[in-house]
Amino acid sequence: MRWLRKAVTSLVASTAVSAQSSTRDYTKHVNLFIGTEGPVSGSAYSAGNVFPGATLPFGAVKVGIDTTRRARWNVSYSANAGYTPDGNVTAITMLHESGTGGAPTYGLIPQMPLVTVEGVNLLDNLTYMQPRTQEDIASVGYYKTHLLNGVTAEMSASMHAGIMKYQYPENGGRYVLVDLSHFIPSTGKKEQFYSNGFMERSEDGSWYSGYGVYREGWAWGGDYRVYFCAQFDTTPVKTQLFSGRATDPYWPNTTDVKPAFTDSTRIQGGTIGYQYADRIGSLFEFPAHVSSVTSKVGISWVSAEKACRFLEEIPGWDLHSTAEEAKARWNTEVLSKIDVQTGNQTQLEMFYTGLYHSHLLPSDRTGENPNWQSDEPYYDDFYTIWDTFRCLLPLTTLILPKRSTDIVRALIDIWRFERFMPDGRSHNHNGRVQGGSNADNVLADAYVKGLRDGINWTDGYMAMKTNAELQPYNNFDFEDPTGSTKEGRGGLQDWKQYGYVTPARGRCLSKTVDYSLNDFSLSQVARGEAPQDVALYLNRSRGWQKTWNPDVESLNFTGFLAPTYPNGSIQAYDPLSCGACDWISIAYEGVPWEYSFSIPFDMQTLTTKMGGPEHFETRLDTMFTPNLTRSNQGGNSAGSTIFNPGNEPSFMTPFLYNYLPRKQHRSVQRSREVVDQYYNNGRSGIPGNDDAGSMSSWLVWNMIGLYPVVTQPVYLVLAPRFEDITVRLGDSGSTLTIKTTGLGQGPYVQNLKVNGRPWTKSWLAHEDLVGANGEGSSLEFVLGSEKMEWDTGEVPPSPGSFTD
Ligand SMILES: *[C@@H]1O[C@H](CO)[C@@H](O)[C@H](O)[C@H]1NC(C)=O
Ligand SMILES: *[C@@H]1O[C@H](CO)[C@@H](O)[C@H](O)[C@H]1NC(C)=O
Ligand SMILES: *[C@@H]1O[C@H](CO)[C@@H](O)[C@H](O)[C@H]1NC(C)=O
Ligand SMILES: *[C@@H]1O[C@H](CO)[C@@H](O)[C@H](O)[C@H]1NC(C)=O
Ligand SMILES: *[C@@H]1O[C@H](CO)[C@@H](O)[C@H](O)[C@H]1NC(C)=O
Ligand SMILES: *[C@@H]1O[C@H](CO)[C@@H](O)[C@H](O)[C@H]1NC(C)=O
Ligand SMILES: *[C@@H]1O[C@H](CO)[C@@H](O)[C@H](O)[C@H]1NC(C)=O
Ligand SMILES: *[C@@H]1O[C@H](CO)[C@@H](O)[C@H](O)[C@H]1NC(C)=O
Ligand SMILES: *[C@@H]1O[C@H](CO)[C@@H](O)[C@H](O)[C@H]1NC(C)=O
Ligand SMILES: *[C@@H]1O[C@H](CO)[C@@H](O)[C@H](O)[C@H]1NC(C)=O
Repeated sequence: MRWLRKAVTSLVASTAVSAQSSTRDYTKHVNLFIGTEGPVSGSAYSAGNVFPGATLPFGAVKVGIDTTRRARWNVSYSANAGYTPDGNVTAITMLHESGTGGAPTYGLIPQMPLVTVEGVNLLDNLTYMQPRTQEDIASVGYYKTHLLNGVTAEMSASMHAGIMKYQYPENGGRYVLVDLSHFIPSTGKKEQFYSNGFMERSEDGSWYSGYGVYREGWAWGGDYRVYFCAQFDTTPVKTQLFSGRATDPYWPNTTDVKPAFTDSTRIQGGTIGYQYADRIGSLFEFPAHVSSVTSKVGISWVSAEKACRFLEEIPGWDLHSTAEEAKARWNTEVLSKIDVQTGNQTQLEMFYTGLYHSHLLPSDRTGENPNWQSDEPYYDDFYTIWDTFRCLLPLTTLILPKRSTDIVRALIDIWRFERFMPDGRSHNHNGRVQGGSNADNVLADAYVKGLRDGINWTDGYMAMKTNAELQPYNNFDFEDPTGSTKEGRGGLQDWKQYGYVTPARGRCLSKTVDYSLNDFSLSQVARGEAPQDVALYLNRSRGWQKTWNPDVESLNFTGFLAPTYPNGSIQAYDPLSCGACDWISIAYEGVPWEYSFSIPFDMQTLTTKMGGPEHFETRLDTMFTPNLTRSNQGGNSAGSTIFNPGNEPSFMTPFLYNYLPRKQHRSVQRSREVVDQYYNNGRSGIPGNDDAGSMSSWLVWNMIGLYPVVTQPVYLVLAPRFEDITVRLGDSGSTLTIKTTGLGQGPYVQNLKVNGRPWTKSWLAHEDLVGANGEGSSLEFVLGSEKMEWDTGEVPPSPGSFTD
């Protein structure tokens, strides 16, 4: 009954939240459509792929519409959050990801309001999908869409349940269709599947529950069950369960199957475990005298009974009070953590929407882990840490340290039971790994910033050490059969034998860069937990140097990371190209030019290898020279510079000028250029997949004028875009205040004071921000138009630099 107590506690807690949420309403600055559209109007191709529906911070359910993709668009793309601006609605579903690329995951446990079933094949979405007649309306915790059939559908969410209200047109029927086999389709690769299901309904049809069984999607993985329990506020006049032969996206001619109806109150898709069980569903018809029908749907990964209990999170039938509750939660838990003041509404929208997007994933499924009993917190939908480790999780650590602590504990608990922490993970299945074992970086970042509460760091370090020492089994991913893409480090055998990853493995160059940082992360935690290991992992973190080839030339610069054979010779390549930039390419979603700048823990050695500060600066400038890119990565790239604002490997590059004495103003220049050119408050205001909020968190950092150097307790100084910023450091009551004058004069730092003292370093230690004893601190910026060389102090640290 632990979960019951939890449900009660969460109700009590949320009441408390409403009571104290009388202060500023930040949710009015959140524009849920930012990042839903790509460069082509109406299409989600190359979009932020953000989820615009209703949810709570780290919500276990994410309630929103699923739509078709535009038919004529000739580039294949998937609607990863289920949503495209101009697609037809096929269902309202309870589970979504946000900002992801690759192939879609979820779009599960649907309802679809219909006004007629004439000409409708309940098993064929093309016969009932609905275009929208107006722009959708969304605010935090609330979503509304107008369907061509005259139905207006509203939705909201609590932590584990959704509430939907369907307003029907006067004439016509009142139906709700549940097709349990619905999911967000892919363009072919890594397709999800409906596998099986069970459903039962009450005699009167006013509630139904059961489970759907699904498999695969981006993370791969076998069958998993999602339990549901739903209730209507109105008793239907007629309810019929139905079934029909399985469809499979790879089988022709199964979409024209017709449903077989039954008056029975239970239906099973087929033998439990059978992968081609019948599709099942239910059709509910409501009396003509009601104008609207409201439904609540609870979701559990443990049991249908628990899904029913979750309905208690939404006590009445008033959707608006659920939405208000959601708003209060977002204000209190997340948005009020950074209070910014400005008269510029555009900037407020960009900022608070960015802050909102940064706290949608991973999903908090504490108490909802079907696979093992544990008192630890549980999180799912790490999609993926490759994206989020760089600056999203450091943001969470600064403003919501308790959440970061819980996420770290969840990662460690996954290691306890499954032997490897994930890099990607959805529906309780580790997968897939794009580069290194980046949970190592998450743990190191938490460790160096002092997160201890309840984290067993002995186990934490062991979990990291598993990544560094244990070869994961090869899952023979068809996109790269050369090593595991499920978890751990697929190229570990090379790493241990040669000190770098050789071209025998997919993504050898980027893996070498990633493993270097991963082992640096181990050395950081080893300082406290296993001092005898520090030298070993610091030594291994120099692996990138072994593949630095001083003879490779590109655009008149010499010395680049190179795909290097065991005998030391290199594979022919162009540092400006990563070919298809995918799983078997030399580098993943970034060109060697970009990865050659990605050594945050040893910028000193990197600068030396690039010929010293002057050459380094010229080369860095070249990253931002228009029209030099030769790598078209489709939806994963934006702009024409080698620096790619649309993807994570380039995230820190604009700020590397801080590592050069007296050049901090160049970082400010880049920060402004990139933000102003690529981010805005329109639907295509994010220059690539938001990736669980990674891009959004990057924007948040730029706007407050700081950037975290992940795995070190260090932040680079940029320039704030607001006069008054108050960062609340968790629930401690301490704040970091950032006051800025001269914003109207220009973007460049004229001088900076930290806690009232003049500051000459282009960086701040974590302690400088949160205070030596967590008491907070204050920054005072004076900005202006002059490119002041104020940063005369020591450059940011290079803790990975050492000589034998
Ligand atoms: C519509 O349903 C078919 C299976 O019947 C499925 O293959 C297709 O992906 C669905 N389309 C959408 C947009 O959900
Ligand atoms: C949406 O449905 C309409 C018919 O109602 C159809 O003409 C249109 O092609 C559909 N669009 C998409 C993207 O499915
Ligand atoms: C899609 O069509 C447009 C316009 O016809 C064309 O410019 C573009 O190259 C096409 N893209 C692909 C990937 O075929
Ligand atoms: C589907 O089945 C119909 C009738 O059984 C047949 O005429 C048609 O050729 C089939 N289509 C495909 C793609 O197999
Ligand atoms: C408000 O901010 C936006 C985005 O930075 C900028 O484009 C716009 O010029 C600003 N408006 C004013 C009045 O300063
Ligand atoms: C950490 O976990 C290990 C077992 O994995 C246990 O032996 C140890 O006592 C734990 N440490 C703390 C401080 O709880
Ligand atoms: C570092 O690695 C080199 C080989 O790459 C080895 O010779 C040296 O002993 C190592 N040092 C430490 C401290 O592990
Ligand atoms: C490289 O140097 C040569 C000779 O100095 C010059 O002609 C060429 O324009 C340079 N290329 C680039 C990309 O700067
Ligand atoms: C090094 O190894 C590569 C790959 O096996 C081979 O093609 C190359 O000829 C070797 N080079 C030398 C100098 O042995
Ligand atoms: C980059 O290329 C585009 C298209 O070829 C051209 O219009 C633009 O002037 C070029 N920009 C620069 C800075 O060379």
